[in-house]
Amino acid sequence: MTRIVVVGDLMTDTVARATLPLARGSDTPATVTMHGGGSGANIAAWLAVEGSEVAFVGRRGADIAGRNRDMELMGYGVDARLVMDPERPTGTCVVMVTHKGDHTLLSDPGANAALSRDDLPEDLFTPGAHLHLSGYTLINASSRPAALAALSLAHDADMSVSVDGASAAPLERMGAEPFLEFTNGAHLLVVNEAQAHVLTGREEPAQAARVLTAWYPEVVVKLGPDGALYANGRPEPAHAPAPALDRAVDGTGGGDAFCAGFLQPWLDKKPPYEALVNGCRLASSARSLVGPRPVL
Ligand SMILES: Nc1ncnc2c1ncn2[C@@H]1O[C@H](COP(=O)(O)OP(=O)(O)OP(=O)(O)O)[C@@H](O)[C@H]1O
Ligand SMILES: [Mg+2]
Repeated sequence: MTRIVVVGDLMTDTVARATLPLARGSDTPATVTMHGGGSGANIAAWLAVEGSEVAFVGRRGADIAGRNRDMELMGYGVDARLVMDPERPTGTCVVMVTHKGDHTLLSDPGANAALSRDDLPEDLFTPGAHLHLSGYTLINASSRPAALAALSLAHDADMSVSVDGASAAPLERMGAEPFLEFTNGAHLLVVNEAQAHVLTGREEPAQAARVLTAWYPEVVVKLGPDGALYANGRPEPAHAPAPALDRAVDGTGGGDAFCAGFLQPWLDKKPPYEALVNGCRLASSARSLVGPRPVL
């Protein structure tokens, strides 16, 4: 089995689920819970519970939250290689989920912003392993040197590489061209519809995917309730529908779970359709529980 190395962000998510429409400037009843989060760490957690061999490289604060996040990852079976930042706190994200179930994030990267190339354990970058680089690490200017170093170490070790588009707004702030240029050489790009639009200017996801195959040999575009599609430059992209869900409790982590679910069968050289279906299956699991990670 291919060992997967995820380089990325680690957060504590405070998820506030409003039970009524938001009363701006006033008070809205909600259920508020705390969870391990961070897109990269979530992907690592879903991979580990699905039986993949996975290491996670990231940065935490010297605080209780950081210790909890570290222990959680070990509980999932992730080989957690966290560097402790002496000053910055563990990253924190406020997730506001409206009564309709859509979510908005307010994120403070904390220690994630200081990830440096010295934090990358060289023993993980070995031939035959796979690197998944979380888009957040590349998009955040202060952790970008670490992201670029990870890409370069993976290239030198002849590892396969996947990257994701993090989130549309920060991606747009960075700009499409720098993102496409920095990730040049990656084998697989995983983005959602909004990120595909930012990167290509195309509204239509299949068209955006086609444009993106000029940059990446293989491209996955997640389509929310419409599932996901895969393109590799051949005329017909593969498409898998999202399974119908009785009850989506909280959409956070759906995209990360999808990514994890797609990656392992893709690395096992299974047909793209099968990998898409597996991605949608894990996304459904994530959407049916509160918080972005699997429940142990
Ligand atoms: N409304 C929905 N109904 C059913 N499945 C959904 C819905 N929204 C998302 N999904 C599932 O989750 C996957 C990822 O969702 P999406 O396309 O929104 O990616 P994302 O924006 O990266 O994820 P997230 O919104 O969790 O950050 C989809 O491919 C689909 O399988
Ligand atoms: Mg989404």
